[in-house]
Amino acid sequence: RHHILSLADFTTAEYDTVLQTAASFQEVLSRRTKKVPTLQGQVVANLFFESSTRTRSSFELAAKRLSADTLNFAAATSSMTKGETILDTAKTYLAMGTDIMVVRHREAGVPNAIAAEMDRLGVRVSVLNAGDGQHEHPSQALLDLFTITTLIDPDHPRMELLKGKKIAIVGDILHSRVARSNIWSLIASGAEVHLAAPPTLLPKLFAEFISEESEVRNQEFVISSSPTPNSPLPTPQLFLHWQLEPALQNADFVMTLRLQKERMTAHLLPSLREYHQLFGITSTKLQLCKPNVKVLHPGPVNRGVEISSELMDDPEFSLIQSQVTSGVAVRMALLYLLGSGKA
Ligand code: CP
Repeated sequence: RHHILSLADFTTAEYDTVLQTAASFQEVLSRRTKKVPTLQGQVVANLFFESSTRTRSSFELAAKRLSADTLNFAAATSSMTKGETILDTAKTYLAMGTDIMVVRHREAGVPNAIAAEMDRLGVRVSVLNAGDGQHEHPSQALLDLFTITTLIDPDHPRMELLKGKKIAIVGDILHSRVARSNIWSLIASGAEVHLAAPPTLLPKLFAEFISEESEVRNQEFVISSSPTPNSPLPTPQLFLHWQLEPALQNADFVMTLRLQKERMTAHLLPSLREYHQLFGITSTKLQLCKPNVKVLHPGPVNRGVEISSELMDDPEFSLIQSQVTSGVAVRMALLYLLGSGKA
């Protein structure tokens, strides 16, 4: 694989390679020097056309830990303010010898367009999707996967550890590229994925996930066969709920999502107080889950909206800081696999 743009066609073997490679880099990061010469001489350009804190910084740190040279682009301070196009910007970075372009944009498909242009030019530049509109955020889903599988087996994280686990994804599914990438990876692992959101934020038809055997049962949309050729599973795996409780019941992990107010028209934006009452995750609501349940959030968080401030900071349940920490090792793995031609 030359680019990483989506998880829709990732195989179990590819997921396991990323998890194992990230585990070995986690070990590197625990050493005093924290650095390896693996990508010495290579250039990683972070092309962020949309704002970011953790993704941009952790890709930069990951590249530096691999001894690559890094270039950081932010649209607001770039020549795009003078009218330069996205593809001309990418070609400018290509001309400086960039090997890997890490791309974020508010519109879906921009990383794919840059990758297609690089392929058309016949150059060996890899493009990594760092979040495109409402489409996908592959590195976030992979670091989520790493965070939960290393919790189960720190030395040997792998997909099969999640088989049969119940994972609830709660919140603004409609606008969430994180949810979309997580659905692909979690279903491929054999986990049972429950999506919960108000009807306005949970589309009934997730066309790409829905098979002919899908059906609606008691207002719950049951996807009864696997959406990917790589994970032919006989039992229902994806459930859509317009109430929170059925999703939380006996869950092993709860992934909360940010209300993406910037992507909402006024009629979609719920009252924040009502939303928190109905779908906000709190310690009390967590009692419906398994006793050792853990809570994730990709960040940034609207404290007190999708998750209570107290739960967010509770180290017994919250994996939010671990997710950020995992991000560096996982992004090292992705840059290494692309940069060394082993992806
Ligand atoms: N989770 C995530 O993508 O965060 P940033 O927008 O801060 O990069």
